[in-house]
Amino acid sequence: MSGAPATTTHPASGKTFFGHPLGLKTLFFTEMWERFSYYGMRAFLVVFIVTPVAQGGLGESRATAGIFYALYGSLIYLMSLPGGWVADRLIGQRKAVLIGGIVIMCGHITLAIPKEGAFLAGLGLLVLGTGLLKPNVSTIVGQLYDKNDIRRDAGYTIYYMGINIGAFFAPIVCGFLAQSEIFRHFLAGGVVTAYVPLLGLDLLSVSGPGINPNHAWHFGFGAAAVGMGFGVVQFVLGWKHLGDAGAHPTRPDPATSTPTPAPVYAIVGASVAIIGLVTYLLFDKYGIDKASIADSFGVGLLVISIALFTILHKYIARDADERRRVRAMMVLFLGCLSFFGLFEQAGSTLSLFAEEKVHRTVLGIDFPSSYYQFINAAFVVMLAPLFGWLWIRLARQHREPTSVTKFSIGMVIAAASFMVMLPAVLGPVADGGKVSGLYLFAFYLVSTMAELCLSPVGLSTMNKLAPARLASFVMGIWFLATAVGYYIAGRAEEKVGKLAVALDLGTGGLYYLLILFGLVMALVMFLLAGPVKRMLAEGDADNTPTPSQSAG
Ligand code: PHE
Repeated sequence: MSGAPATTTHPASGKTFFGHPLGLKTLFFTEMWERFSYYGMRAFLVVFIVTPVAQGGLGESRATAGIFYALYGSLIYLMSLPGGWVADRLIGQRKAVLIGGIVIMCGHITLAIPKEGAFLAGLGLLVLGTGLLKPNVSTIVGQLYDKNDIRRDAGYTIYYMGINIGAFFAPIVCGFLAQSEIFRHFLAGGVVTAYVPLLGLDLLSVSGPGINPNHAWHFGFGAAAVGMGFGVVQFVLGWKHLGDAGAHPTRPDPATSTPTPAPVYAIVGASVAIIGLVTYLLFDKYGIDKASIADSFGVGLLVISIALFTILHKYIARDADERRRVRAMMVLFLGCLSFFGLFEQAGSTLSLFAEEKVHRTVLGIDFPSSYYQFINAAFVVMLAPLFGWLWIRLARQHREPTSVTKFSIGMVIAAASFMVMLPAVLGPVADGGKVSGLYLFAFYLVSTMAELCLSPVGLSTMNKLAPARLASFVMGIWFLATAVGYYIAGRAEEKVGKLAVALDLGTGGLYYLLILFGLVMALVMFLLAGPVKRMLAEGDADNTPTPSQSAG
């Protein structure tokens, strides 16, 4: 969020982290571990929800799993709004990150308890904790640098690598514990032997504790808690490297600042989160089904989005230039939510696809479906530098697309990621068979390319469009778009799937409609790119010469 002091003081030590302030190392590892815990549990979340109770899951329907995913994902990002505000105005980012990390850890510990009720309480804590940590750790990164420090964007790129390194290892570690046959066998009291193939040696044999193997899921959640624990310890130890960054809340100067809408925003965000959770907990007991609650939540998101832009355009924007910027933000908002609506199905539709329809053996060894979730992170680490280079090269030749055009390209690629799945869906899967995991590799490769066209670019452009006094607010709008995207991603399989059936589109129906949606939104972005560019020509706020920047 906003509020970076113009200059920051750094501890006078000669050491750096890849030529950057040492504080970056602290934040890199904090966010690496936080994302480890987030993507670790997300890797098997929906599979856990649909797995029968007899195998330790929640035994819920696919539609309900989608609802959990939709509400959990949206609330996490919605809570970034009050989370950012609390840090900006009340406690400073650094304390918010610390408290958030501890709350997240408690959330995962709660999920690790194999008791009814622990699940929702755990998710609730994760929502609160992530809202405090995620936006603020990104903000502190920016505060490590003096205002004109040219290393800032590179700093964000390094930080983004940290995010994806965490996301890379998480599904393997947490997924192994939660889902692998080996670990279940071990828990049940079986013997597990570490074997060195080249030497033909049995290195170590351990026999398991002899407990219910269904608890394996909870060990997966537990691993996420341990990861966040490392992050918290590391943050405390590295605290001293942060200098002044994020140490204090910013007090707006009454002489220069206008009343900020942030408190309104914070209240709206917090109420939505609390109402969502409470209604879920209470109403579910009284027979109001989860789907109606989720539907009303969706309508709520729509209302908040429209209200927000109306207020912003009508009351907060001060002059014609600011109103133009708000309109441009609306276009980016629409692009962002459409993109995340497709992209985040990685953790819902595609997660279930991996579980049910994809072969999961390599060299004769079985592995759990959650392992497929590491592919996106791996491709981000590989491709982000390439995309950074591409935009800079195009910019040098004065051919760099505007950000809205990049959104349009990103949407075409996101649609293409679902096209890649068509031969699988229409072929072997339609006949009740399974397909090669290479389809998922191809899907994630293509969808990562879409991510790199859109996600970092959007964040940085929103930042540029925001009048300085509204930086925080506008960052919150980006998170709101992500929240709406998560909601769509969670509910797509159920809702779009039903539509496909109603339209009698056959086996590939869901995929046809998702592809169509992607292409239509790409066209909308394409058509709006010109008007937005013209609109912003005076303010010169469009284009993004630093595409690699992302606060994640
Ligand atoms: N994968 C990145 C992260 O987890 C970027 C991202 C942020 C993607 C928010 C979707 C939503 O931080």
